[in-house]
Parts: sequence; C-alpha cells; structure tokens
Amino acid sequence: MTQFALVVAATEELGIGVLQNLPWRIPKDMAFFKQVTTVIPEELENQPVQNAVIMGRVTWESIPTKFRPLDNRFNIVVSRNPSYDLKLADATDKNTILVDSLEKAFEAIDSKRHARTFIIGGAQMYRLAIQHADCSHIVLTRVKSKIDCDTFFPTIDEQHYRLGSHQELEGYVQRQVPEGIQKFKELEYEFTLYVRK
Ligand SMILES: NC(=O)c1ccc[n+]([C@@H]2O[C@H](COP(=O)([O-])OP(=O)(O)OC[C@H]3O[C@@H](n4cnc5c(N)ncnc54)[C@H](OP(=O)(O)O)[C@@H]3O)[C@@H](O)[C@H]2O)c1
Repeated sequence: MTQFALVVAATEELGIGVLQNLPWRIPKDMAFFKQVTTVIPEELENQPVQNAVIMGRVTWESIPTKFRPLDNRFNIVVSRNPSYDLKLADATDKNTILVDSLEKAFEAIDSKRHARTFIIGGAQMYRLAIQHADCSHIVLTRVKSKIDCDTFFPTIDEQHYRLGSHQELEGYVQRQVPEGIQKFKELEYEFTLYVRK
C-alpha cells in the first residue's frame, strides 16, 4: 500500500466540524487545501497522474454540489451503504467512486494513475486512518481561535507523530507557505505539519 496524508483544519481542542459542516470559512485555508491536495510532486509533473482524495460520506455531502467531485483529483467516497447515490451531476464521471471500507479505498489507488493520496475527513475517516502505519503526514491548519465544535479530530499520539518544521511543511507541499500566525477577520490560524516518526 502507498503512503498517504491526512489534511485537516482543527482548533486547539481538535474541533473540526459543527452540524455536519465546517465551523469556519477561511478562504486562504481553502485555497491551501486545494493546492496541497492537487499539486503533483515534481518528479511526476509530466506524467498523466492526479492525486486521490478519500472522504467519508458525511464529508462528501458537506461539499456544495457545484464543487463536487473535487476537480483534478480522484474522489473516493466511503459509505457502508453500497448503493448510496453519489448524485453525480455527470453520471458518466469516472473520476469519483464509492467504496464500502477504507481498505477498499486504498485498493482503488493505482500508483500508475495516482500520485499522492489524501484523507480529507471527516472525524470517522481520520480516526481509522491516523492509526495506519502508512499515514506518513498530517497537514494540519491549526485554528487558534476558540470555536464551538461537535466533531473532533483524534488525538495526535506523540509516540507516532512529531511536529515538523515550517521548512518540512514547504518541502512536503512543494510550495511556499505563509509562516506563523495568519489572520482572517476575527480568526487566527497557522499552517503546520506532523510527520510520522
Ligand atoms: N475541519 C476539517 O478539516 C474537516 C474536514 C472534513 C470534514 N470535516 C467535518 O467533519 C464532519 C463530518 O465528519 P463525520 O465523522 O461526521 O463523518 P465522515 O467521516 O465524513 O463520514 C462518516 C460516514 O463514513 C462512512 N463510514 C465511516 N466509517 C466507515 C467504515 N468503517 N466503513 C465504511 N464506511 C464508513 C459512513 O457512511 P454511511 O453512513 O453512508 O454508511 C459514515 O456515516 C463535518 O462537520 C465536516 O464538515 C471537517
């Protein structure tokens, strides 16, 4: 199995969601998410590949219809219901699939077609994935402001993950990333990276 990363925005209390949606709207974090999950590693840039994003059914439904499937990425939706209707605007869309377990999601990754694999939520998917030895990185936007949430990211076990440096973050995402505390309206946040030890 190939390695993968989790991409998440979470508060200090690890809150990630409320009422089945994001508790905040931070445009630069959304742009960062798009960039991280879309950028192809340099060595594969000229190959016919794209990245894969794996998400739970609730997260899929939280994406506004006009933005899903996430463009230029292979979308894998996980549900226990094998006949769940993805309600794809384009029924012939081959770039979005439904699977009934995280293991099947990993099996659907084809190293010839897919460069990087990202788990993009929500809590149930993160909880399963963070335990995997193949989870190599956690790209975490830390939302510093206190915000009420009802859904939480699992504890990041320091036995298995260490906080990486900003250089490591830029190296991993292969782009420059704003360093330190960022501000949007009343919100403060910071781009960080955890690396599996
Ligand atoms: N802050 C962030 O970065 C971020 C990112 C993503 C999501 N979120 C938020 O997180 C919340 C959603 O998280 P969530 O935990 O409620 O839902 P989720 O992980 O997105 O999806 C849960 C669904 O996944 C399926 N599932 C879970 N475990 C499974 C298993 N072992 N095998 C097969 N299918 C399985 C089930 O679908 P069925 O019920 O169809 O069987 C389950 O209801 C929302 O508030 C969302 O906005 C935040």
